[in-house]
Amino acid sequence: MKITVVGSGYVGLVTGGCFAEIGHDVVCTDSDLNKIRTLEEGKLPIFEPGLDKVFEKNRRESRLHFEADAAKAVRDAEAIFICVGTPPLPNGDADLSAIDSVARVIASETQGAKLVVEKSTVPAQTGQGLKRALEIYGRRRNAKFLVASNPEFLREGTAVGDFLHPDRIVVGVEDRAAERQLHEIYRPVLEQKFNCPVHSSKCPAYEPPAWMVTTINSAELIKHASNSFLALKISYANLVADLAEKLGADIEEVLEGVGKDARIGMSFFRAGLGFGGFCLPKDLQAFVRLGERWGVDFALLREVEKINQGRISRVVEKIRKAAWVIRGKKVAMLGLAFKANTDDIRYAPAIELVDRLTTEGALVRSYDPEALGRTREVRPQYDLASSAYEAAEGADVLVIATEWPEFRKLDWARIRDTMARPLIIDGRNLLVPAEMKALGFEYHGIGRHEEESLQGSQ
Ligand code: UGA
Repeated sequence: MKITVVGSGYVGLVTGGCFAEIGHDVVCTDSDLNKIRTLEEGKLPIFEPGLDKVFEKNRRESRLHFEADAAKAVRDAEAIFICVGTPPLPNGDADLSAIDSVARVIASETQGAKLVVEKSTVPAQTGQGLKRALEIYGRRRNAKFLVASNPEFLREGTAVGDFLHPDRIVVGVEDRAAERQLHEIYRPVLEQKFNCPVHSSKCPAYEPPAWMVTTINSAELIKHASNSFLALKISYANLVADLAEKLGADIEEVLEGVGKDARIGMSFFRAGLGFGGFCLPKDLQAFVRLGERWGVDFALLREVEKINQGRISRVVEKIRKAAWVIRGKKVAMLGLAFKANTDDIRYAPAIELVDRLTTEGALVRSYDPEALGRTREVRPQYDLASSAYEAAEGADVLVIATEWPEFRKLDWARIRDTMARPLIIDGRNLLVPAEMKALGFEYHGIGRHEEESLQGSQ
């Protein structure tokens, strides 16, 4: 099928690449000409494991094209997926102006019937607004728009696998024709029939995804409710971690014991520096705002946000307690990305932590396996090291701020020998405390029994 993906941000690129991978003829467009130029040159503007291979193969096999002129890009498409950004406005509402301008372009280029699918995360009832806008902008043409909502549940870092092996595909539609067309588009994923670019030999056994047909409003609500629930689960884990620390329990044991209950589940149940990134924090805010507008008090979710915002202060206090005075101390920060396997630093807890410590007079030197380039663009003043070892040299304290698995495998004895003081604050509970202590480190994790905190609370 001829598909056009409007918006070449992270969701648009993964969606475009994966649709091409399962056999569709895809055009990606974006209002940012530089982005399209970069893509035409065969470069990806984001780091997403496996996506480079998908792009290279499908460009080579002529299933993936890039077009700067949006009007041209949408003209011949049978289905258009809108993946433009919906950033928060100062009042917390989602800014839908990019969707509105895409609607104008689509409407002015459409003859006959066209399927228009919103994939951007949007507040409920945006689909209705989109449909109205298409009809108004296209009223002088012989056009019929089938509008649908098809929320994405992609996680940065594992997005290609998430797209091809999803738990569920949700389509919010108004009519059978839109449902049929979307079913056809997703058929290879529903039947799990494609050459998987993630698993080179055989994919692990996946249940075929659930095909969920809902109303457009329900589909939109499913997306917001899912992200907010994930945020809630993380904040709950963090709150229990604070108590575990005081009581002399170990949060890792506690969460495992709780999460082994299949009704609760282990995933998204890790304590640490809190959730960041461009999705969870902003979606949570937009959901609270949506509730307010419709007279539903989401005090529960406001609390989730408050707990999350307090995580950085807690870690700063941990550092202060262990290092005594922060001003003038050399801090090695391991990790800048908002989570592992991405170079994305938007709303990254690590960045907030570096800023806070710097304001307090610490001399922070940071390292991240993938996010150094982006950090240089956004925070040119940061002192960046080219390896974890370089960051740790002469440091009074080392902080782990992103859960990169490779940090586990560092030569920690070498790091100990070059640090001014062998002190680790593990903001992601990545390391094994006993191992670090055996190596001679003073180690403080999150929600892990520490004698000092126990004494402090008495
Ligand atoms: C999130 C959702 O997980 C996706 O399902 C959704 O499609 C996406 O937003 C979106 O709306 O586009 P993503 O932003 O890539 O995906 O990041 P997550 O994997 O959700 O992680 C968010 C943050 O939570 C990270 O900072 C991570 O370190 C933190 N986290 C995650 C925890 O602190 N504890 C956990 O147990 C899990």
